[in-house]
Amino acid sequence: MVSYKELGLVNTKEMFAKAVKGGYAIPAFNFNTMEQMQAIVQAAVETKSPVIMQVSKGARNYANATILRYMAQGAVEYAKELGCANPQIVLHLDHGDSFELCKDCIDMGFSSVMIDGSSLPYEENIALAKKVVDYAHQFDVTVEAELGVLAGVEDEVSSAVSHYTKPEEVVDFATRTGCDSLAISIGTSHGAYKFTPAQCTRDPKTGKLVPPPLAFDVLSEIEKQLPGFPIVLHGSSSVPQDEVDTINKFGGKLPDAVGIPEEQLRKASESAVCKINIDSDSRLAMTAAIRKYLAENPSHFDPRQYLKPARENMKKMYIHKIVNVLGSNDKL
Ligand code: G3H
Ligand code: 13P
Ligand code: ZN
Repeated sequence: MVSYKELGLVNTKEMFAKAVKGGYAIPAFNFNTMEQMQAIVQAAVETKSPVIMQVSKGARNYANATILRYMAQGAVEYAKELGCANPQIVLHLDHGDSFELCKDCIDMGFSSVMIDGSSLPYEENIALAKKVVDYAHQFDVTVEAELGVLAGVEDEVSSAVSHYTKPEEVVDFATRTGCDSLAISIGTSHGAYKFTPAQCTRDPKTGKLVPPPLAFDVLSEIEKQLPGFPIVLHGSSSVPQDEVDTINKFGGKLPDAVGIPEEQLRKASESAVCKINIDSDSRLAMTAAIRKYLAENPSHFDPRQYLKPARENMKKMYIHKIVNVLGSNDKL
């Protein structure tokens, strides 16, 4: 058993309280590779932002659970080396799907876990979340639970339809589970295809797809029911059109990829939404830079040559999110 406190990590309690009060949101960036980890830490240090580094079950399968945990520990030391005396870094399990997985992460030094029972019947979701909370809180580890189902299909996190969170259930759910934050469904979804073209309108000037707005009425009803309670948005990548265009220009094929407009995420950040999950935008930034580099430098084969611009492009994206969308800069 390793306590996250020994690793210099923090849980989400204080940072969420400050974010809700201050009208901004903490970035929750997924990482699977060293380059993502470096870019996240560099961006957080340069902008003086707290940050959540999150690991999915898929990431653990890809990179190895132990390696990722040590990378997070390395992230704290790296942040200090870059000049941040007191980094505020959370190591969070994203979409934990069982008590055993959450326990394993807690035991190996995670400071926060998500138990995602959102596809279970209501009472089973509560029972599973409560079991995780009871274990996690013994070690001062914070727990995110989810109510409502996101649409979209992506790897291990999938559901064909979206069911918005029912505001009338949130008080009962939060009280009975004891969770520290609540992930809700208000129209976001995972991946780079968040809406079908049929769900969107077309901008007459650019011909680009314009997605339907998020359900801010549901969000404000939830806030009324649970004043000041930390709310989480998953599936919040914006799918930047310039990255999609670069990918398509250099041999990729992502027709009609569409995300959540940044103005809507900015508006959500000013509410009780205090954690915003972004993964796909990092994937797009990395892939666009690598495709471009390799197309323009066909004789190069040293991975450091193409991973360097990939890392720089991800860092640029992370800084943009922190400063221009979530507003978590200058908070350390
Ligand atoms: O919400 C899902 C995250 O983007 C993680 O995706 O399960 O493919 O690692 P993954
Ligand atoms: P995106 O696919 O929109 O980046 O969402 C990521 C996410 O919700 C991770 O849990
Ligand atoms: Zn998610």
